[in-house]
Amino acid sequence: MGNYILMHKSTPVIKMELDELEGITRILSVYAPEHLPIGIPVKKNTVDKKALNLWWADRSIPSSRSGVQEALDELGLADTRLLLVRSFGLSLSDQYWIKPEHTDLQWEKINFFDNAFSDDIGNVLFGLKKGQGNFDFSSPDNTSDGCLKKRWKIIDGKRCLLKGGSNPFRQQPFNEVIASKIMDKLGIEHIPYSILWDNDMPYSVCEDFVTKELDLVSAWRIFQTRKKRNDVSVYQHYVNCCSELGVNVVPALDRMIVLDYIIANEDRHLNNFGLLRNAETLQWLGASPVFDSGSSLGYNKVPFDILGEREIICKPFKKTHDEQLKLISSFDWIDFGQLQDVGAIIRQVFGDERVSNFIDQKRIDVIVQSTEKRIQKLQAFANQKKIYSISTENDVTENIAENYLN
Ligand SMILES: Nc1ncnc2c1ncn2[C@@H]1O[C@H](COP(=O)(O)OP(=O)(O)OP(=O)(O)O)[C@@H](O)[C@H]1O
Ligand SMILES: [Mg+2]
Repeated sequence: MGNYILMHKSTPVIKMELDELEGITRILSVYAPEHLPIGIPVKKNTVDKKALNLWWADRSIPSSRSGVQEALDELGLADTRLLLVRSFGLSLSDQYWIKPEHTDLQWEKINFFDNAFSDDIGNVLFGLKKGQGNFDFSSPDNTSDGCLKKRWKIIDGKRCLLKGGSNPFRQQPFNEVIASKIMDKLGIEHIPYSILWDNDMPYSVCEDFVTKELDLVSAWRIFQTRKKRNDVSVYQHYVNCCSELGVNVVPALDRMIVLDYIIANEDRHLNNFGLLRNAETLQWLGASPVFDSGSSLGYNKVPFDILGEREIICKPFKKTHDEQLKLISSFDWIDFGQLQDVGAIIRQVFGDERVSNFIDQKRIDVIVQSTEKRIQKLQAFANQKKIYSISTENDVTENIAENYLN
């Protein structure tokens, strides 16, 4: 238990009493309420402590992260929340951190965008170098979200996120690359991903797209900025929230929904997209480029079910991809001719011989066939040029991320 200043880059936001496990127990002073994380209600200079606590708890590694229990055992810690305070809550996706009261820590000296960080936590999360003890906890891995095994690493001076796939096919890293290439073809703003092999295991690698000027703010947080009325659809609510912040998010959502249709993405929950803002001026800059598209292309299904399009989950707006397509306001920007060689692109991404340890030829054939089929269906739908009204029918009711068991 101790007093801390919640900092936004170099701006003191509030003073609070913080317990490593219980979280924020008291709010002691409010300095800059406009710099609070998005979606935390403030009334008459009183900050909603419960909402702030949820934000803080969400900042720790989720307990559903693959291999997290083994990592905690190795570190001798009971909970991932204990890691947060040890690295001052610093992240590579936004500019929040906590400063112990009566210290003169400076953002310039400790942020992970400019300053190197330790590999210890990343190694532990990846199950490497066991039994070493004496850990250096300074790492942005302590605040990384998501269920897949992942770590930040400085490669050639660049901050990169390495992310594994789930058993048995370990397909997600390849899917990230395929999705990147499809978005290249369609001119959709996205984070480029590539494959890195380590000990014959595939990982996706992408550079940090957040700079030290920016905050990535998830759609989930944006969602909290207004109360959602029951008669307003999930989609419309998000559009309204963004519009209130001065962002027309519709063109970006059109593009994201089209991509997710093509790749049959099953995990575009509200923390897998969002907006970017300037962390000093608080100016909203628009939708973030598309990232995290790996839980797609039948990543956890057998070929029979991929081809049969069985039990494809859809998020974040509608329960099925066909319904979600009806939310799109314009298809005019799509050049379907660009997608003609998508089969060749997919085969090329799976081309490395090490892939066959996880994914066989039959699986690749089926992924190609089903993707081509969906592109045809998408084109037929776009050609209809029909306009649908947006209602709450078939809305997704909960924001849940996919949980991989291994
Ligand atoms: N290139 C990046 N630059 C900065 N932040 C990133 C980047 N990629 C991901 N993030 C942040 O890290 C979080 C986790 O990454 P990501 O969504 O790719 O992981 P995941 O394990 O696949 O997630 P999920 O639980 O949705 O499957 C993201 O929600 C985002 O906040
Ligand atoms: Mg994610």
